[in-house]
Amino acid sequence: MNDPQELFDHGPVIPVVVLDEVGHGVPLARALLRGGIRVVEVTLRTPAALGALERIAAEVPDAVVGAGTVTSPDLAQDAAKAGAAFLVTPGTTESLLDAAEQTGLPFLPGVATVSEAMRLAERGVTALKFFPAEAAGGVPFLRSLAGPLPGLRFCPTGGITPAKAGAYLALPNVGCVGGSWLTPQDALAAGDWSRIEALAREATSLR
Ligand code: 3PG
Repeated sequence: MNDPQELFDHGPVIPVVVLDEVGHGVPLARALLRGGIRVVEVTLRTPAALGALERIAAEVPDAVVGAGTVTSPDLAQDAAKAGAAFLVTPGTTESLLDAAEQTGLPFLPGVATVSEAMRLAERGVTALKFFPAEAAGGVPFLRSLAGPLPGLRFCPTGGITPAKAGAYLALPNVGCVGGSWLTPQDALAAGDWSRIEALAREATSLR
């Protein structure tokens, strides 16, 4: 998978996950798979994240596991070493973009304004994360970009719920949405994998 646009082809939702236990990664990825979701974004905002990502990459070959909350060049390199299949950043700096490109991995750089999106388009990046989606303008903002910037596709993330996802997914410039609602912290803490499987199954039919 060298083209980040392929991330959009796996399904309507990328689950965004915060993991507090390294051991939760593999059963979580398997639960999502049973529910029909291959892609999972492990956010690098907990000490357990890289270890969990590494185990998913090694032990769940059918999963496409990526790293989210990549906020520094070092984290981009760490994620690549751990076996990440893709990278997601909440915003974009020049050094972060350089580091992400150097990994050779597909990545979704975060943007929240028209100028940020245009700057990335100048560098040949056409698949972007729109973050924080609801706070930064939501569906009306993305709809407004489809005319002037038709070559760009977005994964809006931040504040999206199952009730809100459909309106995003109906836009021509939305490839998929990201969200944490599929992996609630209480379900993870309790090891309630069947609940996560059910949430994944519901999410696959959102488009
Ligand atoms: C995040 O920052 O955790 C992601 O953007 C997910 O946001 P959400 O919890 O609003 O889905």
